[in-house]
Amino acid sequence: MPTPIKDVKLGWIGTGRMGYQMAARLAKGGCDIALWNRTRAKAEPLAKYGAKVVDALPELASRDIVFCMVSTWEDVKEVMQRLLSGSRKPKMVIECSSISLEGSAELRKMLQGRGIQYLAAPVSGNAKVIEAGKLTFVVSGPQPAYEVARPYLDMMGVGSSYVGDGELSRIVKICHNVMLGVVTQSLCEITILAQKAGVPRHAFLDFLNKSVMGSMFSRYKAPALVNLDFHVTFTPQLLRKDMDLGLDAGRRFEVPMPLAALTRDLIQQMLGHGMTEQDFSTLLLMQARASGIELKPENVAVNDGLSS
Ligand SMILES: NC(=O)c1ccc[n+]([C@@H]2O[C@H](COP(=O)([O-])OP(=O)(O)OC[C@H]3O[C@@H](n4cnc5c(N)ncnc54)[C@H](OP(=O)(O)O)[C@@H]3O)[C@@H](O)[C@H]2O)c1
Repeated sequence: MPTPIKDVKLGWIGTGRMGYQMAARLAKGGCDIALWNRTRAKAEPLAKYGAKVVDALPELASRDIVFCMVSTWEDVKEVMQRLLSGSRKPKMVIECSSISLEGSAELRKMLQGRGIQYLAAPVSGNAKVIEAGKLTFVVSGPQPAYEVARPYLDMMGVGSSYVGDGELSRIVKICHNVMLGVVTQSLCEITILAQKAGVPRHAFLDFLNKSVMGSMFSRYKAPALVNLDFHVTFTPQLLRKDMDLGLDAGRRFEVPMPLAALTRDLIQQMLGHGMTEQDFSTLLLMQARASGIELKPENVAVNDGLSS
């Protein structure tokens, strides 16, 4: 008999854009969840859903399952070392940040050495996708641990894909985000091409999104591209990190990745122009600049495919 969801004590590290919405779904689903975030104020609003906000990371070590959603491998390492700095330890850690295969393997070694089960469980989606209940996980690690974790993963989205042992989920996520970068750059190029030839962006994207080439991604990015609303969903720096992870993996496995290399440098160029504070889809502005046109918001209501 699996333990009822409410009887398992969950811990959550990192309530940034993604972590906040993910933890909110668990709290709203009635889970017993305690949270820690470096900037405490960002976690506090989750108390209204019954989550407990703790002051110090080691307080989460006595929870049964601890989730982690921070930024880079260096950040994961730092919070994990602090989590395990006392005598207590959780039964399981589920690490959801987008990190390298090597970092994930080091974490597995660190946790296994202490008898803690470990699942690598990166995600696809952004904060709005999570709110719409459409987040997906790709998971690797011991299958029995996955079966224990599955109900919680299901509560945060539309489910998970179990891809096998070890760090396999990390390479799947890295491949996914390389596609995110390359597809976004391509989407920006063709949108600017159509516009410079005289087609309004909303009309072009309306057709694309209804066509066989449209996707959940191209639909939910359309409002940003049409109305130039570049509120951050994912930062350019985090996308560059993922492109670099992809290129590192390409070198390691001797797979040429010419499109990824080019896209990575276009993202770097955007960062070099100081475009660091908005969404990564400001690649559109770079493309417009390179094409000699100035963009204006079209102020047209666009269906993002997520709002009900
Ligand atoms: N946004 C997306 O669309 C998206 C989609 C899929 C996957 N991801 C991945 O998910 C992860 C989180 O992304 P995000 O967009 O939620 O990022 P974010 O909004 O920048 O949040 C980062 C979180 O990590 C915490 N953090 C960073 N460094 C830390 C450190 N050294 N010690 C303690 N806490 C630290 C931050 O704490 P503070 O609040 O104190 O800064 C914050 O809670 C990343 O690995 C990203 O690549 C993002």
